[in-house]
Amino acid sequence: MMGMVARSGLRIIGKSPARGPEIDAAAMLGALPVPVVLLDADNRFRFANHAAEQFLGLSMQQLSHMGLKDLLPEDHPLFDLIGQVRQHGITIADHDLSLESPRLHKQAIAVQATPLNEEPGNVVLSLQDASAARALDRQTVFRSAARSVSGMAAILAHEVKNPLSGIRGAAQLLEGSVSEADRELAVLIRDEADRIRALVDRMEAFGEKPIERRAVNIHRVLEHVRRLAQTGFAAHLRFNESYDPSLPPVYANRDQLVQVLLNLVKNAAESITANEHDGEITLTTAYRHGVRLAIPGSTQRVHLPLVVTVRDNGPGITEDMRQHLFEPFVTSKPSGSGLGLALVAKIVADHGGLIEVDSVPGRTEFALHLPVISEDVDGE
Ligand SMILES: Nc1ncnc2c1ncn2[C@@H]1O[C@H](COP(=O)(O)OP(=O)(O)O)[C@@H](O)[C@H]1O
Ligand SMILES: [Mg+2]
Repeated sequence: MMGMVARSGLRIIGKSPARGPEIDAAAMLGALPVPVVLLDADNRFRFANHAAEQFLGLSMQQLSHMGLKDLLPEDHPLFDLIGQVRQHGITIADHDLSLESPRLHKQAIAVQATPLNEEPGNVVLSLQDASAARALDRQTVFRSAARSVSGMAAILAHEVKNPLSGIRGAAQLLEGSVSEADRELAVLIRDEADRIRALVDRMEAFGEKPIERRAVNIHRVLEHVRRLAQTGFAAHLRFNESYDPSLPPVYANRDQLVQVLLNLVKNAAESITANEHDGEITLTTAYRHGVRLAIPGSTQRVHLPLVVTVRDNGPGITEDMRQHLFEPFVTSKPSGSGLGLALVAKIVADHGGLIEVDSVPGRTEFALHLPVISEDVDGE
């Protein structure tokens, strides 16, 4: 066989249309941030780039003595997928595989398997953390949704708020001078004007103002939010807390963080009906080492090691709601504004963070991924 693989790595010899000197494919693949491996016809590893070595937690040296079956159980769906690629000679992608085994604990992996025609039976796999990819995908959408609200808020503030205060003032004057029967109408006008004003105020929170950030102790914020919730809207619920006390401070605007967590806890509380006895909200914090996320449309990668989760045991988020969860004005509640999560998405994005949702009946979890204060300092 014409040399595809040299001992030291993968090499494409310049016999094909390529002009000039040979191309070092291994170096080229090594530079890719995407994990790529080459399997032979018996599913043994012939090559893994740097990203794949990191992803699998094994060096090329170790992998060269191993096969896929040393990493995954026999009945893993990836074998079937690779089998189909060989059989039909086509590329197949699966966007939601979990690589679970005693060695690997990777949830939601996007895999693309491509046959290597020059080497019969050989298959190239490229891997990607699908949950991160999906979250980032959605995040871009939320960002633009939030931006459209911020433009609208500016218009509303200008075009609605001023006349509204005139209407409110006039209604208030009327209240004092009209008959008892008509007073009720005047009060109605005033109350409704107040309601619209509150809505516009809430939308103004989407405005593009620079945020002031400093080192914030996330546990103090959570404690504050829990206390507010328990003395108010979540009095009927039990709280569980599981915190990592060694967490470094988060680089954030404290009031906005309170708002984010309050919105999440409020949604959690509202998902559990008042007469339910075993309603529960769980707050957790944790530190995640070494996970890098790519920013869409840029080559930059960020490290968001701080994870805060808000979990409830309510009925979960319905499928049709899930698609539009973070869009403004999307609500399933009779008197909801649908602005809570849109604002959450906006604030989290402003902080350079990420938010993810995972929901099944009985377990809904929102996970905030945030940067820590030392981020820029250690030049990651
Ligand atoms: N923890 C949760 N459990 C179930 N559904 C939720 C949860 N959080 C949010 N939702 C759904 O997302 C929708 C949007 O939430 P949000 O933006 O806060 O607006 P609002 O609370 O005013 O409806 C809610 O109406 C609800 O259907
Ligand atoms: Mg809400």
